[in-house]
Amino acid sequence: MPTPAPNPHLPFGDQRGAPWYGKDILSVRQFNREDLEYIFAVSHEMRTMVERVGTFDLLKGKILANLFYEPSTRTSSSFTAAMERLGGSVIPINEVKYSSVTKGETLADTVRTLECYADVVVLRHPETGSAAIAAKAARKPVINAGDGTGEHPTQALLDALTIREELGHLDGLTITMLGDLKYGRTVHSLARLSSLYKVKLNYVSPDLLRMPAEIISELKASKMEQTEHSSLDPVLAETDVLYVTRVQKERFENEADYEKVKGAYVIDKATMKSAKQRMIVMHPLPRVTEISMDFDEDPRAAYFRQMEYGLYVRMALLAMVLGKA
Ligand code: NCD
Repeated sequence: MPTPAPNPHLPFGDQRGAPWYGKDILSVRQFNREDLEYIFAVSHEMRTMVERVGTFDLLKGKILANLFYEPSTRTSSSFTAAMERLGGSVIPINEVKYSSVTKGETLADTVRTLECYADVVVLRHPETGSAAIAAKAARKPVINAGDGTGEHPTQALLDALTIREELGHLDGLTITMLGDLKYGRTVHSLARLSSLYKVKLNYVSPDLLRMPAEIISELKASKMEQTEHSSLDPVLAETDVLYVTRVQKERFENEADYEKVKGAYVIDKATMKSAKQRMIVMHPLPRVTEISMDFDEDPRAAYFRQMEYGLYVRMALLAMVLGKA
């Protein structure tokens, strides 16, 4: 994405040295390795500041509109916490049923309305491509917090940060993605982001839930090593990151198909006996039955730590698009 032209309505000093100022964050395809290093570095600073002072005034006076058309616990509350820890404030719209959306307002009009009151819009929506539609309608930055089965770029960034913090690097790792690879937007974004590194990707899923062919061929073009399996057994022992996903019940067109695949894989203490000692298990959460609670105490269970990294990454992204990082 090209750097946007400076906004003539803002003081020049606000924009100098801030290449992300005013940009939308819609897809991981926007990022290169250098961008990721920068985001990791800013996230690290955010962590230090949160640990040292808790809340500070970097985005004082700025307002975030948090517009969620789908359920969310972590993404929504971590964006709220991120904005508030930076001294800004939030207009929360979680229950779109109480907003003008139920009167038939289009997404474009809702976003145009919110940007009159806010400096940045975070959007979660059930349709793929909705974040791009919103960004086209808006003058202010739009951050995609999940568009249907499309992408979830801020999750992929926090996933990459988690891997780096926990294992030290991404190059040379084998990442195994397990579960619903068809509808899971988190794995779509993480697979694409991994192509910036020398990573091997294993996809393990029931036949009905395979990684979409267009993502596999997109990554093939960037020379990514990828393999597909229906069982975890052949790849567990070589895995450095086991990325488990929930079967996305709400995306199925027919309930019988969901019933066929819902309990396809369960990670528990017994399964993990054949995995490496130095590896991590991740999950974007919420989990249903795919990771047994008996594994939570294992030091390799990184999914709760992963949530915390989400706060720092979202603080970094908000500061960046608002020209303060
Ligand atoms: C994920 C999502 O919404 O795509 N959750 C999240 O943002 N942490 C995964 C899921 O809902 O299963």
